[in-house]
Amino acid sequence: MSARRLSRVPESGTVKIANAVSKLRSEGVDIISFSTGEPDFATPDNITQACVTSLNKHFTHYTPSVGIPELREAVAEKSRTENNIPCEAANVLVTPSKQAIFMTALAMINEGDEVILPDPSWVTYDACIRLAGGIPKYVKVSAENEYRMTPEEIAELITPATKMIFLNTPANPTGAVATEADMKGIADLAIDHDLFVMSDEVYEKIIFEGKHISIASLPGMFERTITINGMSKMYAMTGWRLGWVIAPPEIFKFLNTLQTHSLTCCTSFAQQAGVEALRGPQDSVKKMVEEFRVRRDIVMEEMAKIPTLNAPKPKGAFYIFPTYDHDISSIDLTEYLLTNAHVAVTPGSAFGPASDGHVRISYACSREDLREGMKRIGEALSKLDR
Ligand SMILES: Cc1ncc(COP(=O)(O)O)c(C=O)c1O
Repeated sequence: MSARRLSRVPESGTVKIANAVSKLRSEGVDIISFSTGEPDFATPDNITQACVTSLNKHFTHYTPSVGIPELREAVAEKSRTENNIPCEAANVLVTPSKQAIFMTALAMINEGDEVILPDPSWVTYDACIRLAGGIPKYVKVSAENEYRMTPEEIAELITPATKMIFLNTPANPTGAVATEADMKGIADLAIDHDLFVMSDEVYEKIIFEGKHISIASLPGMFERTITINGMSKMYAMTGWRLGWVIAPPEIFKFLNTLQTHSLTCCTSFAQQAGVEALRGPQDSVKKMVEEFRVRRDIVMEEMAKIPTLNAPKPKGAFYIFPTYDHDISSIDLTEYLLTNAHVAVTPGSAFGPASDGHVRISYACSREDLREGMKRIGEALSKLDR
């Protein structure tokens, strides 16, 4: 009944767990969730107030498909000054980050094109590549390299069919942050082999050590990079569905074609609030990042007490991706922890074909829940065979 292209997209490995969480919660079981993919903070008041003002002024109609000029300008200015991306407002298309990734795949990938990306990586990349007819080619990143995807590992996978590299720094689900040397090496490969890069930078602000480098800022890269970013993680605005893509003109026009025939535009009053997010005070971002740092350190401290869990200390985002030393699949381990510890984590196998043997712990929850949840995990694992 459905289109054949959908058979290319495997069912999400997280659905079974999400269903089990809902069922247990409906039975009144106290579940601590380490599976959340969004900041647990409120959107800062100045941003919400800007939205209310916009609504009161009845700014409630279609906007240009590319976004309102003030927001495009604010994004371009932020990207030039903070990220050194040599862009203008004309390169900025306002669209939710996930939509930006979907449109990038449709705009760039032909049937049979190969796309290099890390294993593990965020679940949506694989689906978008396959829906567009492309073939994901995974670099198995290792804990020894702090889960960074190195230029040497990428070089081994390049073939005449390679079209793109998908980058994500800081990374979901590992918290890995690419180094300047990684980025320079990857840029050299892209230029030498005439490849395009999709650079997902949505966790840019949530970084504890190291420096965020936008690959589009490196010489020769702007014209071959599609940079994706957005408000969701930066300003705790996941429900607003507001982000952007920065692309050179030849690619930009195709992205806009897809936008006009799908989304039309982002929500008008959310866009005006987005201007306030970028141009207004940034102290709430700083506070949020400091809190995430404290929580990361709590998880690392608690994890050190659990002999069968191991992970490098992540430098960014709000996830930790430990290996476990038990002979069980990550889906079964996740179910075991849910049933026996009443803690929800995400199975590693959801993030790539070689990422079983890990679970993802999101620390977008309170310090108390982190301590209690890690204690429960430790107790449950101590009863599980190795
Ligand atoms: C790596 C990564 N990119 C993009 C997104 C999409 O974010 P949004 O569409 O909410 O901006 C997410 C959301 O979890 C993510 O983890």
